[in-house]
Amino acid sequence: MKKSMKTQFLLLVAALAVGCGAPKELPNGGIWPDDSGVHVNAHGGGILKQGDTYYWYGQFMIEGELGNTAQVGVSCYSSKDLLNWKNEGIALAVSEDPGSDIAKGSIIERPKVIYNARTGKYVMWFHLELLGNGYKSARCGIAVSDTPTGPFTYLRSMRPNAGHYALNATPYHKRNDNYPPAQRFTGGVLPSPIDQGNMNIHGRDMAGGQMSRDMNLFVDTDGSAYLIHASEENSTLHISRLTDDYLDTDSLYVRLFPGRFHEAPAMFKRGGKYYMITSDCTGWAPNAARSMCADEILGEWRELGNPCVGEDADLTFHGQSTYVLQVGEGDAARYIFMADRWTPENAIDGRYLWLPISFEGERPVIRWQDTFCGLK
Ligand code: GAL
Repeated sequence: MKKSMKTQFLLLVAALAVGCGAPKELPNGGIWPDDSGVHVNAHGGGILKQGDTYYWYGQFMIEGELGNTAQVGVSCYSSKDLLNWKNEGIALAVSEDPGSDIAKGSIIERPKVIYNARTGKYVMWFHLELLGNGYKSARCGIAVSDTPTGPFTYLRSMRPNAGHYALNATPYHKRNDNYPPAQRFTGGVLPSPIDQGNMNIHGRDMAGGQMSRDMNLFVDTDGSAYLIHASEENSTLHISRLTDDYLDTDSLYVRLFPGRFHEAPAMFKRGGKYYMITSDCTGWAPNAARSMCADEILGEWRELGNPCVGEDADLTFHGQSTYVLQVGEGDAARYIFMADRWTPENAIDGRYLWLPISFEGERPVIRWQDTFCGLK
């Protein structure tokens, strides 16, 4: 109690110090006041641009460790300059019904919203862990709205691609039916790097759907959308194409980097190539980011190393990727790396790092900056 009041006081003092007017820049790792002077509460977030407005969706966290679970829902903020954020309220509220998939106390992480021009709907996907099941559910939750700020209507949850193998599944994965049970992974602690010879997690989950924890969405220039998700007990990334209405996966998907344990994927496209920035797999604790590139989204991906340089680059400046925002088009396009600095002991106090991405050849490079300067 003492700690939470102190935190609240510090947040207030910091907000007043920054001022509730129109900030010209936001302090990376500091307090980012919204239109009422309260620190923006949109963790693990992502951005949707519609017209000249940016919408920021994220996990609304409360104080203490309980705040890491979904006590309120998914928040939404709007801005025209990426610096002044108006609190638009809760876009998707948790349910008071303990039997609901999105019951209060479930885990709702990394919500992302995309707009479907064919259906005119705003579609939200998020990582969902059912109430009381720890991180074992590994499901996707899906919700829709007619407006960007919601309220979104919860549709359902699922594990992606049930009944289908990945495009690049091997005969090893497909002989699941007659595989000796002792050689199939059935749960427990997963050694890293994973021994692919002993653990056919992909085959194990073929019928019921593939696991999906840390996730993101990406809409390609042709309007097709993809789910990028940490699957197979977090050991292997999957990229899954969505159906035309963006409400499901369409069973076309690939497995990437088996046994590399990438988390927190954030995809973007530049000069016709696809990029991702990810993290290692160490829970809330920061680790070194990774980057990768491909000529085709479902094609061969190659790792390019840690994009961060400078002091604390090996800890992603104490942050973890959540989204890469493209600002502008074509040669004028710029890319903003968005990361969370988690504070799991007091979830509400998590901070944001938004840093520009530069390029050395094809390699993305991220350097620390004290402030985020918006569209400039
Ligand atoms: C991280 C993940 C977060 C959250 C956390 C829980 O690795 O990126 O989104 O799931 O683990 O420990």
